[in-house]
Amino acid sequence: MATSTTRVVRGSGVLVAIMAMAMAVATATMMTNKDTAAAWSLAVDFHALSCPDLHGMVHSAVAAARGQDVQVTAGLLRIFFHDCFPQGCDASILLDGWNSEKKMIQNEGLQQRALDLIESIRDTVHKRCGATVSCADILALATGYAVTLAGGPWISMPLGRRDSLEPAPFWAVNNSLPRPDADVNTLIDRFRSKGLGDHADLVALSGAHTVGKARCKNFRDRISRPNDDFTWRLAGFCGNDGNRQQNLDVITPDTFDNRYFVDLRNRQGVLTTDQGLANDGRTSWLVNGFADNQAWFFGQFAQSMVKLSQMRGAGGGEIRGNCFRRNAGGINLRQTQTDAAAAGDDEATTLAASA
Ligand code: HEM
Repeated sequence: MATSTTRVVRGSGVLVAIMAMAMAVATATMMTNKDTAAAWSLAVDFHALSCPDLHGMVHSAVAAARGQDVQVTAGLLRIFFHDCFPQGCDASILLDGWNSEKKMIQNEGLQQRALDLIESIRDTVHKRCGATVSCADILALATGYAVTLAGGPWISMPLGRRDSLEPAPFWAVNNSLPRPDADVNTLIDRFRSKGLGDHADLVALSGAHTVGKARCKNFRDRISRPNDDFTWRLAGFCGNDGNRQQNLDVITPDTFDNRYFVDLRNRQGVLTTDQGLANDGRTSWLVNGFADNQAWFFGQFAQSMVKLSQMRGAGGGEIRGNCFRRNAGGINLRQTQTDAAAAGDDEATTLAASA
């Protein structure tokens, strides 16, 4: 069900319409999000003065990337979820290095094209505006536009995040992201521990699997004991190739719509975690409701994504001059936009250390 914090835009990729709606809902969104976002001062119009073209730059970059490969929507969504859950939405997942989150098993298969897109947008944005916008904000905004461009709802993303100084530690990743063979109790517990205790958040956010693919090794448990036509077909498709990729939504794999929930109702969910949502009384009524009513799913998804996006980073932070690296030589660097613009430089050298 759509709330006052969100507006549903079906199918339209027209930037003007999106921007008009963004402005129209911005005030309501900020008021509703105030309590949770206040802790780190997020606001929909955070960059309105310092980088007025931000939305246009992000929108056109994501649209161009989708023109090359529509899968980038799925790539961004998964990266965003895997960034936010372990220690908040702070772009920690983008950091390279020996302790990079990208090397952890939970993050195997993240789309390199989508990771590169974030850094490429950062470069464009910093050249235009100076180092004012964090990689974390660019990831949040790009993910929102990617959903809308794939046919999904408009998501009014609050902004103002800082980038982490370190990757999330292994234990945080391991204790946060559920395994694809987890039961519904585990899913509910993991989401509740992140402040997403409303089952509607879990079910709606799982609806991100309306786009994208899973490798056969991630649903091995289902196909090792096939027990109906669908699981026999999955088993036949995978054979012995654990890396073969299967669409998560078997009806409309590249469109952001509610058909994933129709899949689940038809017992054609690919992951154990997905199908489990349709088999448990605490969540099945939501699966059925979203399958019957796309507007309800869209409204709930947009609202739950805003909640997810407000998960706080570890504290401190910086505006990275390269999304894959922490800035050289400093903690809590603060950007001086005037210096950056004057120097025409988007790198960390344009940042000044704050107290
Ligand atoms: C509820 C718990 C969840 C589990 C257990 C889970 C697990 C998985 C697994 C195993 C894959 C396949 C990865 C691969 O084989 O490469 C996958 C893909 C994906 N996940 Fe999830 N996921 C969950 C929730 C979410 C959420 C909340 C989102 C976003 C809001 C999300 C977005 C995606 C997307 C879009 C893909 C496709 C990625 C691509 O094609 O590149 N997932 N997920």
